[in-house]
Amino acid sequence: MKPERLVALAFGVSVLSSLALVIVYVAGGDAQLEGLLLGLALGGLGAGVVVWATRLLHEDVAIEERGQLSSEAERSEAAEALDEPDLTRRSMLVRMLIGASGTLAAALAIPALSLGPRPGQSLFRTRWIAGKRLVDLDGNPVRPEQVQAGAVQTVFPEGEVGAADAQTVLLKVDPAALQLPAGREEWAPEGVLGYSKICTHAGCPVGLYRAESHELLCPCHQSTFDVLRGGEPTFGPADRPLPQLPIEVDDQGFLVATGDFSEPVGPGFWNLQSDEGEDQAS
Ligand code: FES
Repeated sequence: MKPERLVALAFGVSVLSSLALVIVYVAGGDAQLEGLLLGLALGGLGAGVVVWATRLLHEDVAIEERGQLSSEAERSEAAEALDEPDLTRRSMLVRMLIGASGTLAAALAIPALSLGPRPGQSLFRTRWIAGKRLVDLDGNPVRPEQVQAGAVQTVFPEGEVGAADAQTVLLKVDPAALQLPAGREEWAPEGVLGYSKICTHAGCPVGLYRAESHELLCPCHQSTFDVLRGGEPTFGPADRPLPQLPIEVDDQGFLVATGDFSEPVGPGFWNLQSDEGEDQAS
């Protein structure tokens, strides 16, 4: 096959694959088919460029002596006849290259479309708000006297049982032993403390409690957190404290949150800035 036809075929495959990729994506998507079409689109474009560069741009130049044509008019007519197809061929290939590049660029925009909406503040806030009661896994509100010293239980905001980012470990200690950071003196009514259950190292659930040393333990990489000192890490790879939930007792005797956690939960906010420009991880 002639090189120019090969290039045109490769670019044509690239264009059709890119268009098919867009159609498949808009129609609902199929990861394997999309991968195949993307491969064909890229491969076609690449093959066309390679063939063009190796077979059309670097053809050996062969010069053949020929006799004088009979007249100036005939010579120019012959020159036009020789030049025209080459120009036409090149412009056609250039147009196909532009078309293949354009459709491929449109196809490559698909991953950007798949990113979804911006997370906004959802990564900095949980469902805990002031006045939300703490409920157990069955949705029952919890009283401070129901929290057993030496044990841990998982609680959620009322009406949000199962909300992953809001899961909270509840435990009880001797109020006299507390050394909470300044400003948190009222956050542990009757010695009841609430901490995010999501480890600040890599997000495993922090569900083990070592009562004798007052430490919460993450089973994944053995990070430990001192519950008496605001969830400060004392061992292991976690370097941020467990976010603490501010809680109080409402007028009916149930535990309620007085706001969201002290910091964003989980491992993903090392030193990111919020939209307001505050350092959320400091
Ligand atoms: S996820 Fe908790 S220590 Fe690694």
